[in-house]
Amino acid sequence: MSQPAVLFVCLGNICRSPMAEAALRKLSWDAGLAITVDSAGTGDWHIGQPPDKRAQLVALEHGVDISGYRARQVTSQDFLRFDHIMALDPQNLFDLKAIAPNRHAARLELLMDMVPGRKGTAVPDPYYGDEDEFRAAWDDVAAAATALVERLRD
Ligand code: 4NP
Repeated sequence: MSQPAVLFVCLGNICRSPMAEAALRKLSWDAGLAITVDSAGTGDWHIGQPPDKRAQLVALEHGVDISGYRARQVTSQDFLRFDHIMALDPQNLFDLKAIAPNRHAARLELLMDMVPGRKGTAVPDPYYGDEDEFRAAWDDVAAAATALVERLRD
């Protein structure tokens, strides 16, 4: 069987979903789990841009260099290429469902549903916050990525 493929989706693809991508890359590598990981945004404002400097800083604090990531927008192909599409907040999940092709393989889920006690909640958007908001977002996505590694291992 081919390896599982996971796509993280937020609004701009410069803050939360690149950090989720980074956290899952690191944790799956540490666990020896081969998976395909990517991220994208529902919006188009930041296409081609690197992650926000504060996201880069916080990822680096956790040992992951994300300076080479580039923002892109979700495409209809993503619903065929990925097994799991994880939305960073309920609005992103709503928007994904609205653009999903009728027939697709991907399972659309809210990322924080993976974390006990956080079902139905968002990873708060840190864009208008400071570095500590980005650190809190990292903690959220890392908790979800840890749970995801456990699930994909089984
Ligand atoms: P993200 O954060 O969805 O976590 O990448 C945002 C980035 C940019 C904007 C909003 C949220 N924006 O409005 O440009």
